[in-house]
Amino acid sequence: MTRAREIFRYLAATLLLVVVAPIGIQAADAPAVTAGSAPTKGADGMWTLPDGTPTYHVAKDGTVDWYTASGFLRYGANCLQCHGPDGLGSSYAPDLTQSLKGMDLATFEQIVSGGKQTKEGDTDFVMPALGTNKNVMCYINDIYVYLKARSDGAVGRGRPDKNEAPSKDWEKAQDDCMG
Ligand code: HEC
Repeated sequence: MTRAREIFRYLAATLLLVVVAPIGIQAADAPAVTAGSAPTKGADGMWTLPDGTPTYHVAKDGTVDWYTASGFLRYGANCLQCHGPDGLGSSYAPDLTQSLKGMDLATFEQIVSGGKQTKEGDTDFVMPALGTNKNVMCYINDIYVYLKARSDGAVGRGRPDKNEAPSKDWEKAQDDCMG
């Protein structure tokens, strides 16, 4: 390495420290949720962001909301065979903990209900259209919430240890939807 390069490296590294360090400190100090953006719990037991998007909730003792728990079960019954345990993907279907990082609920719903297909070489990767499958569509929020929790690292692998009970409203909505 030339001397000039060495000096440049040193300067670049120092600059990076100066720029990155305060951001790191800020992130550690900042509260997990800023005022006004905190999720709230509805009568049906669903936690939502201020814009109405369903989200997960993990209490201090690790108890997850019912949607997360229900989503885990529904994922296991309808998606795991292709997307692998805990949403982590397989040689055939993508890792949904990664996919969910940049995907909103509307896009998620659209792919699950309408399907998706990509041809790579001789292999057709097919996400089946599940729009008429009630075991999936009646629980689409649950599955989304569970995968979002996995994607954000809020919920680990396997079945959550403790969960809230389903609300009466949730039970009624599922009964109505399943017909
Ligand atoms: C029969 C296998 C199979 C089943 C069952 C299945 N998927 Fe998929 N899924 C795939 C494949 C393959 C792809 C990739 C499609 C592509 O690349 O075009 C995919 C893609 C997706 C994507 C888009 C990912 C991305 O990064 O673009 C989402 C979201 C998704 N699946 C959700 C689900 C959910 C939720 C379930 C269960 C309700 C499910 N899938 C069940 C095979 C499956």
